[in-house]
Amino acid sequence: MRAPIIAGNWKMNNTPQQAVALIEELKPLLADAPCTVVVCPTFVCLGAAAQALCGSNIHLGAQNMHFKANGAYTGEVSADMLKALGVEYVILGHSERRQYFAETDETVNLKTKMALEHGLIPIVCVGESLQQREQGITAQLVRGQTKAALDGLTADEAQQVVIAYEPIWAIGTGRTATAQDANEVIGIIRGAVAELLGEDTAAALRIQYGGSMNPKNASELMAMPEIDGGLIGGASLKAGDFSAVVHF
Ligand code: PGA
Repeated sequence: MRAPIIAGNWKMNNTPQQAVALIEELKPLLADAPCTVVVCPTFVCLGAAAQALCGSNIHLGAQNMHFKANGAYTGEVSADMLKALGVEYVILGHSERRQYFAETDETVNLKTKMALEHGLIPIVCVGESLQQREQGITAQLVRGQTKAALDGLTADEAQQVVIAYEPIWAIGTGRTATAQDANEVIGIIRGAVAELLGEDTAAALRIQYGGSMNPKNASELMAMPEIDGGLIGGASLKAGDFSAVVHF
């Protein structure tokens, strides 16, 4: 039985003060959350967020990290640094990073390995653009992204990874994949994990849906057998909306 996990991807929103205010609003609302809950503020908010979350049931995640341990990489942040702040999860390979910041399958794989080596749980994003969906290559694409991200991991390592299926055309657009569509593609992703690492690993690994998930569609999506959670952008920025999604 896979434990559901819902994560809020705050993207480039909220100052440290605003992040703490949002966390203070969330804490009482999510104290009885029926699933694992993670919030992912920007790097500069992580220290303040970790303090504000102390003693609560809400876990802390980052939105990215570098694939090297340390060194001359101006502007980058390492796994060690995240760990030292109390971060437990890290989003890797978000489509916005693939699209605007030259993230590749190869760097996502290196980052995934580095995160696991440091005891961070990677939330690895995969998903197709509208053009790719219309070309009929969704399955091929998500299978390729999934296998590339998990390449070289042992079954034990891979079981800790969370994958987020995020169709790019559904992100921030208000257009959600139908629950059936999302379930089908997530089944394809799970099939790719099974091919690479066996059925047991595929059955244990959690796969979220992301892309305009909100209080209205969360229960339908979460009711699907392959969907183990959500990666929430826009709806994670308002305490009431995020709480409603978490209480799907
Ligand atoms: P959205 O973003 O919920 O605003 O569509 C999801 C994401 O990009 O993780």
